[in-house]
Amino acid sequence: MNVVITGANGGLGSALLSACARLHPSWRATGVIRKDADLARPLDVVHPILSANPDVVIHCAAMTRVDACETEPELARAVNVEGTRAVASAAETAGARMVYISTDYVFDGKGGAPYPVGAAPNPLNVYGKTKLEGEFLTLAEKNSLVVRTSWLYGKVGKSFPAAVLRLCQTQKEIRMVTDQKSSPTYSEDLAAAIIKLLGKKASGIYHVSNSGSATWHEFAKAVMELKGIRGVKLTATTSDELKAAAKRPADSRLDCSLYSALAGAPLRDWREALAEHLR
Ligand SMILES: NC(=O)c1ccc[n+]([C@@H]2O[C@H](COP(=O)([O-])OP(=O)(O)OC[C@H]3O[C@@H](n4cnc5c(N)ncnc54)[C@H](OP(=O)(O)O)[C@@H]3O)[C@@H](O)[C@H]2O)c1
Repeated sequence: MNVVITGANGGLGSALLSACARLHPSWRATGVIRKDADLARPLDVVHPILSANPDVVIHCAAMTRVDACETEPELARAVNVEGTRAVASAAETAGARMVYISTDYVFDGKGGAPYPVGAAPNPLNVYGKTKLEGEFLTLAEKNSLVVRTSWLYGKVGKSFPAAVLRLCQTQKEIRMVTDQKSSPTYSEDLAAAIIKLLGKKASGIYHVSNSGSATWHEFAKAVMELKGIRGVKLTATTSDELKAAAKRPADSRLDCSLYSALAGAPLRDWREALAEHLR
């Protein structure tokens, strides 16, 4: 099978490239990066995808900086909506299945319980809105798959655990919010789950995150405990105090039961995945 992965140098894209090689050595996985195809220039996207003759296109690339999307909404729209339109159209021309990675930030976080796949989205910020439009474009394609996930971290790219550890090297006190909750998800686990969904020929929307949930404060605390960090004070703060450009949902936990039923098991607990990552 020929698989094209956009955003192949990002956190999830790189995990997917290595998971394909590890789990399916006979597959040909081709990574596409910004240098080959800038999503902000949709015409650039067509050739790198078509030339790989894909059976599946896994579209990981996105403008993922949530606050930058708020301050640069036109760029966010160009990359996350028009870029996705171009990727979906190239996938269709190639006769390939389109797989799109989406986010818990399509929800407003006011539901008070994990969101099932059928819950009505209501994004609070530009990032969530543009990602939701990308979902609609993807779902218009035959046999397409949307995988919503949350709070990704991993070996490559921006990573919350790495950011916490960096702060601990230079600060005596770090502040983390207690009023946002979701499921930290290890890119390696998500990559394996996406490959499982491909094997099961899944289509439509699936929620896939590590089990359990945490606030950013609890996530940071777990990182510090697992690394045995003492002498740095972890202080609770609120989203209002942080004054980030983009609003974030308070509780964007995803109900992943549809995935668990298809795959035969849920993804492991986030703490177990984090412990493995930090080892
Ligand atoms: N990170 C999270 O917490 C999270 C949570 C839920 C869902 N998601 C979704 O999961 C997917 C993967 O996220 P991730 O954590 O792996 O993100 P990431 O590490 O930030 O990687 C994003 C990738 O997109 C590429 N990209 C950005 N702008 C581009 C452009 N104009 N043209 C071409 N490529 C561009 C980046 O390339 P450069 O390296 O050149 O910038 C990078 O390879 C995204 O679709 C994201 O929306 C992420």
